[in-house]
Amino acid sequence: MERILGRVLVIVPTYNERENLPKITQRVRAAVPEAHLLIADDNSPDGTGEIADRLAAEDDHVHVLHRPGKQGLGAAYIAGFRWGLAEGYDVLVEMDADGSHQPEELPAMLDALAGGADLVIGSRYIPGGRLVNWPASRKALSKGANVYVRLMLGVPTHDTTAGYRAYRASALEKIALDEVQSQGYCFQVDLTLRTVRQGLRVAEVPITFVERTAGASKMSRSVFAEALWRVTLWGLASLPRRLGIRR
Ligand code: GDD
Ligand code: MN
Repeated sequence: MERILGRVLVIVPTYNERENLPKITQRVRAAVPEAHLLIADDNSPDGTGEIADRLAAEDDHVHVLHRPGKQGLGAAYIAGFRWGLAEGYDVLVEMDADGSHQPEELPAMLDALAGGADLVIGSRYIPGGRLVNWPASRKALSKGANVYVRLMLGVPTHDTTAGYRAYRASALEKIALDEVQSQGYCFQVDLTLRTVRQGLRVAEVPITFVERTAGASKMSRSVFAEALWRVTLWGLASLPRRLGIRR
């Protein structure tokens, strides 16, 4: 797989994940031993950045990107993508630090990428996909968001807000990353839309999303509000084209 795809970088954004980071690092290293890991920490007050430095000092496959402060998931990934592209990686993976995205499922996602996709989404909402321990309220929010996104944007994907993904570097290079303004979790929708509009191939692979057992989610009212207004604006802007009024 490595031979076909080239060098793989798993990017893990962190904000206050001190309890989770050592465990996820160990699981990634065991599940995909050839891959490198980049921890993108937003100067976490709980000392996650120092733990990241220690992990990187012990293992030449682990790297750290220290960012000055909490600037959102989207900004952390853009910085991580830039780092990875500059270092010449061929595949860039997005993975949460809290264990919700299981590293053991990454080989199946990379297989789908090797099979010809430009973006593989680890999907909770296709047959075989599962959600473990998510409260009903969060499940409803996520499912509702995905229905709204499909209606507004006409994207073919079933889990468009998903945060477990593998991109080919060549795909990211075709997306105008410097035009991306999404700061929070709507970054995921934003990049899916850009990928689809570039005519790139998107595949979904079922995953089991397991709710975290340590630390707290950074989902917030403002993250949700940003997603709602941005998706609504993107949808309205694409209406004339979707209705065939303008190409
Ligand atoms: N560097 C950085 N900066 N990391 C962040 C920030 C930030 O501002 N906000 C969140 N993170 C990191 C967390 O530390 C964690 O590793 C990962 O991003 C996901 O954050 P969670 O707070 O655990 O997200 P969630 O479980 O509520 O949401 C998940 O599902 C969403 C929708 O279904 C994630 O997978 C999201 O990406 C996804 O959109
Ligand atoms: Mn989480």
